[in-house]
Amino acid sequence: MTQTPAPDGRAPGKPLVVLDKVNKHFGDLHVLQDIDLTVHEGEVVVVIGPSGSGKSTLCRTINRLEGFESGSITIDGQELPQEGKALATLRADVGMVFQSFNLFSHKTILENVTLGPVKVRGAKAPAARKRAMELLERVGVAHQAEKYPAQLSGGQQQRVAIARSLAMEPRVMLFDEPTSALDPEMINEVLDVMTQLAHSGMTMIVVTHEMGFARKAGDRVVFMADGAIVEENTPEEFFTHAQSARAKDFLGKILTH
Ligand SMILES: Nc1ncnc2c1ncn2[C@@H]1O[C@H](COP(=O)(O)OP(=O)(O)O)[C@@H](O)[C@H]1O
Ligand SMILES: [Mg+2]
Repeated sequence: MTQTPAPDGRAPGKPLVVLDKVNKHFGDLHVLQDIDLTVHEGEVVVVIGPSGSGKSTLCRTINRLEGFESGSITIDGQELPQEGKALATLRADVGMVFQSFNLFSHKTILENVTLGPVKVRGAKAPAARKRAMELLERVGVAHQAEKYPAQLSGGQQQRVAIARSLAMEPRVMLFDEPTSALDPEMINEVLDVMTQLAHSGMTMIVVTHEMGFARKAGDRVVFMADGAIVEENTPEEFFTHAQSARAKDFLGKILTH
């Protein structure tokens, strides 16, 4: 396995998420093709690629929201269990933030953040509330704790979704286009929270086309097309000297806007 050193010269941590020859089909569609990907502790990997290339499926497979046919996925050396309580616990190790915020609409912001730790991690309510308030503070929405999701802006809701994931003390956080459903003026407040998180040492896999984020926070860019990893490099190299025709073509399309 090649190890890409972080651009700031930090030594990469140990391998945390390891995909080894992962294959998955949707009927005739070979949606993940021999995916090999190692994400080290503390590393921030940005996944980019055209729509339909399998980026969301990759995230969902890592989190076991989708099965796969061959290959293996391990988190800190452990294979993901198929089902049951072991799966719930291991899934809690992998936080996920989606494009749509998926907050419980009939629960307050605070309840949204305390629910998982109490139900899945077995935390006591007072401790869960204290921790939730710290996290809401960290993402800048503590003053909204007693409101319901619909009373918050999209950017605030997405920051709550990040706090909710963090409350589970995940080992790795997956973000699947976390800003693509947001109004433009709210994108930066979410990317700022993600950048802070990256700098705090969180291991992250981030599907996004936000190049500013990739450059500021990413250690590595992985470019996917048609279910395969076509190319990977440091963000700077990737955005300035893409190698493959597919990547050049894709960058040409997103950069001209
Ligand atoms: N549940 C599903 N059943 C069948 N096909 C699917 C399903 N989910 C995704 N696909 C197909 O798999 C391909 C990859 O989708 P996706 O992982 O969402 O790509 P991306 O996130 O890169 O846009 C697309 O062609 C999509 O239509
Ligand atoms: Mg997607």
